[in-house]
Amino acid sequence: MSASLATVAYIGAIILFIMSLGGLSNPETARRGNFLGMAGMALAVVATVLGPRVTAAGIPWIVGALVVGGAIGVIAAKKVQMTQMPELVALMHSLVGLAACLVGFASYVDTSTVFPTPVEKTIHEVEIYVGILIGAVTFSGSIVAFGKLSGRIGGKPLLLPGRHLLNLVGLLVVVYFGYVFLQSHDVNAGMLPLLVMTVIALLFGIHMVMAIGGADMPVVVSMLNSYSGWAAAATGFMLSNDLLIVTGALVGSSGAILSYIMCRAMNRNFISVIAGGFGGGAPAPAGAGGAAQPAGEVVPVSAAETAELLKEAKSVIIVPGYGMAVAQAQHTVFEITKLLRDRGVNIRFGIHPVAGRMPGHMNVLLAEAKVPYDIVLEMDEINEDFPATDVTMVIGANDIVNPAAQDDPTSPIAGMPVLEVWKAKTSIVMKRSMASGYAGVDNPLFYKENNRMLFGDAKKMLDEVLAALRA
Ligand code: TAP
Repeated sequence: MSASLATVAYIGAIILFIMSLGGLSNPETARRGNFLGMAGMALAVVATVLGPRVTAAGIPWIVGALVVGGAIGVIAAKKVQMTQMPELVALMHSLVGLAACLVGFASYVDTSTVFPTPVEKTIHEVEIYVGILIGAVTFSGSIVAFGKLSGRIGGKPLLLPGRHLLNLVGLLVVVYFGYVFLQSHDVNAGMLPLLVMTVIALLFGIHMVMAIGGADMPVVVSMLNSYSGWAAAATGFMLSNDLLIVTGALVGSSGAILSYIMCRAMNRNFISVIAGGFGGGAPAPAGAGGAAQPAGEVVPVSAAETAELLKEAKSVIIVPGYGMAVAQAQHTVFEITKLLRDRGVNIRFGIHPVAGRMPGHMNVLLAEAKVPYDIVLEMDEINEDFPATDVTMVIGANDIVNPAAQDDPTSPIAGMPVLEVWKAKTSIVMKRSMASGYAGVDNPLFYKENNRMLFGDAKKMLDEVLAALRA
């Protein structure tokens, strides 16, 4: 393939990526968005492999790598549970970081490139230094994020004494070794400062994510997503590959925007998230993962009683959370929705921006179950409607409906916007026990007078509710 044809293909791929991002912004067009992204990536890979910079001798290596990488991707995608998606994403970010590091070292030891001027050589070395720096932070940070999300590493923030000072000293050392690196006249002399910086960057990535508590992990994952984009863009600079630069910048900036949106949804300041220490270390009454402390009487209900309440209701709002994903209850939720709609009930869904374990988690599940998009509303669109609602059904959600976020300034989730389900005439919470949710915080909703608890696995209980509704 000629250089100009490869450039045209690259531009085509870039346009497809931008259209893909546009499609992913709405559930109705998300499938098309994914498809466009896949087409763009296929075009990019073909144009690169057949492009002018790959020699015939390199093709078997590339095809071999594609087969191995593709096979691992297919197996992982088939095996992974929906609830494990954030871990998988974190692991994938680590690979982007690792790739940036390896490409950086390879570019540095590759002496075949001749630079017409010393300035161009210096620019190339700066690209290598910065690329490896971002790549190493992304790599080690993502591995720790994977460990935390999969429960292999505890969710509690690790707060070393003087940690901000430690980070600052690390930064100064990195800048100093950057200067030493640029002054080095040959590869042997430059390798030591490069290696020292890599080790510091790896330690910094570990320290940064270890200092962040469980409740802030969603933001960290999207922030690492952003870093992985910048690492890819840096790799693009090293390899003089425009497509990689643009794609990396798209991922980097969209990850940064997502981090900002998530911070807003959790009422968290982005800088304080990065500074760490929140979400797990605070004195949560229930303790992470533990059972909630009794704070009053809870009123249990049966599936039959729940069905009665639904039969009498004119308006119902369903608030799904992580438990619906665990139980895979979305199809039964759809059946109940359909039945109630057929009976003239105004039934809608309220979706919190961080419900579940990944952005859009609930939307994906509801779309999979064919729940119509027009009754699935964002938190801000539906929060004012709870007082005029007869029944709210909270299905496996906990933190996102916790009134303590509004009422208790000492709560670790104080200030996080929540769905005000308790303002409905009756709220029904479906979960298996009194255990706390992701943030490890007790939930006063359970003890409210107008709240009922339907204990059990969400799928099993909803099947019983559906049977009772049909009876
Ligand atoms: P959580 O607060 O984690 O609560 C989920 C509840 O579901 C648990 O209390 C659990 O109680 C229940 N549950 C689990 N399995 C169940 C099953 N099979 N049947 C019925 N119930 C079940 O979830 P949420 O309300 O969706 O809030 C999300 C939380 O995750 C927030 O704190 C958020 O910050 C965090 N987070 C979000 C993301 C993103 S991007 N969405 C990513 C990572 C973390 P039982 O054990 O008693 O059943």
